Amino acid sequence: MEDLYGRRIDYLRVSVTDRCNLRCIYCMPPEGVKPKEHNDIIRFEEILVAAEVALELGINRFRLTGGEPLVRKGIIPFIGALSMLPGIEDVSLTTNGILLSQMAGQLKEAGIRRINISLDTMNQKTYRELTRGGDLRAVWEGIEKALEIGFDPVKINIVALRGINDEEWVDFARLTMDKPLHIRFIELMPIGAGWQMARENYASCRQVRGVIERELGELTPVIDVEGNGPAEYQRLPGAVGTIGFIHAVSEHFCGSCNRLRLTADGKLRPCLFDRREIDLKGAIRRGAGGEELQRLFRKAVQLKAANYQMAARAGKGGRSMVQIGG
Ligand code: GTP
Ligand code: 5AD
Ligand code: SF4
Repeated sequence: MEDLYGRRIDYLRVSVTDRCNLRCIYCMPPEGVKPKEHNDIIRFEEILVAAEVALELGINRFRLTGGEPLVRKGIIPFIGALSMLPGIEDVSLTTNGILLSQMAGQLKEAGIRRINISLDTMNQKTYRELTRGGDLRAVWEGIEKALEIGFDPVKINIVALRGINDEEWVDFARLTMDKPLHIRFIELMPIGAGWQMARENYASCRQVRGVIERELGELTPVIDVEGNGPAEYQRLPGAVGTIGFIHAVSEHFCGSCNRLRLTADGKLRPCLFDRREIDLKGAIRRGAGGEELQRLFRKAVQLKAANYQMAARAGKGGRSMVQIGG
C-alpha cells in the first residue's frame, strides 16, 4: 500500500499487551498505567485475522511490542501461528528482556528471528531506579541467551538520558568491540511520562556520537544491518558489532516511514504521535468481512500525516508509550 505521500507501507507494529513487568520512569507515571479490561484487549485470534488482512494488502513484516509482549499468556503459540501465515516475511520482537532467558528457546522455535532488547543502563542501582524495581541480572542473562541461541541480529535499545546514563554511553559502545550486538541509542521522545523528563534529560544522538568518538575513535557507516526501522548504523574501528542511532526527535525520518501500528486494544494507529485511531477490533467483533477490514487498513494508511509534527497536530495529546506500543 502507498500513502498520500508515496511512502510504501509494509510493516505493522503490533502491541500485544498494555501490561508490563517494569515501570520505566520515562514511560509511566509512578502509579503505573491502569491496564485495560481483558475484554478490551484484542484477542490473539483477532490479531491473526488482522494479520491476514494486512498480508493481503502487502504488509508482510510484523514486530511484536507492548507493554511487555512476553508477559501475555499464550504468546508463544500465537507467535507460532503468526509465523505460519502464508506470505509472512518477518516476525520480530521488542522486549525488556526480563523474561527472555527462560523464553528464548521457545521464541526461536515459534518463529522469531530478530530481537530488540531495551536496556538503558548496566548499573544495577540505576536500573532499579529507572525501571522502578527491575532486576538487571535477568536482562543480562536474556541477552547472553539470545546471542547463544543465535538470534540474529540482537539489538540493544538505550534511551539516551543525560544525567542518568550519560556516563555509560562509552561503555555501551565498547560492548560492540567483541560482541555481535547492535547497540542503539534512542532520543527521548516527549510522549507520556517522557514529556516531563525531556527538558532535563534529553540528549541528541549527535551528542552521544560525539562522546563516543572522542573516547573510542571515528565511526564509519554500516549499511547491512537487517531491520525495518529508522536506525542509522555505524561501526567502531575493529568492532564486531555496530552502534545505531535513532534520531527520533532531532531529525525527521518520517519521509521514509513504512509502518502502521495496532494497539493492544485493537486500534489501527497511523503514527506514534497521531491520536486518530481506527477501531479494527470493533469491526472484527461485529463480524466485518475481509473487504471491510481491508478498507479500514486503507483508511489508516490514508490518515498518515507527512511527518510527526503534522500527525501530532492532527490528533494531539493522547496515550503513553506503554499503551501505544513503542
Ligand atoms: P528494527 O529496525 O526492525 O530492528 O526495529 P525498530 O527499531 O523499528 O523497533 P524497536 O521496537 O526496537 O524501536 C526502537 C525505537 O524506535 C523505539 O524507541 C521506538 O519507539 C522507536 N520507533 C519505532 N517506530 C517509530 C516511529 O514510527 N516513529 C518514531 N518517532 N519512533 C519510532
Ligand atoms: N522515548 C524514546 N524511547 C522510548 N521508549 C519508551 N518510551 C520512550 C520515549 N519516551 C523505548 C523503550 C523501548 C522501545 C520500544 O521504546 O525503551 O526500547
Ligand atoms: Fe515497560 Fe518498556 Fe515502558 Fe519500560 S519502556 S515500562 S519496559 S513498556
